[in-house]
Amino acid sequence: MNTMANYFLCHESEIANDTTRSFNVVTNQGPVELLLLKQQDTIRGYINSCPHLGIPLNWQPDEFLSLEGTHIQCSTHGALFNLDDGHCIAGPCTGQSLTAIDIEQQGDGKIYLQQQ
Ligand code: FES
Repeated sequence: MNTMANYFLCHESEIANDTTRSFNVVTNQGPVELLLLKQQDTIRGYINSCPHLGIPLNWQPDEFLSLEGTHIQCSTHGALFNLDDGHCIAGPCTGQSLTAIDIEQQGDGKIYLQQQ
């Protein structure tokens, strides 16, 4: 039987616009490293794993953006990913994508990772 599980991440007010935050969550299916990105009050989430080598994208907590803030950037070899769909547009994994995660934002502003 599949049951949906929700894991609390943070309140939406804890992420400023045009910034990212990293999270490590232990779920029923094991640990998940992820990042949340907030842009114009829209929050998106991706698994924190670069498609190039399968390692975390960041080397500093909560730091995932390129200098200009226009893309997510892998700190190891500099791959650039679109903010809105996680597609890699430059670097060694061009054409591949970050894995989007399902998040649920509740009316009170709390954000949850949602897993089947
Ligand atoms: S590990 Fe991310 S670009 Fe190489």
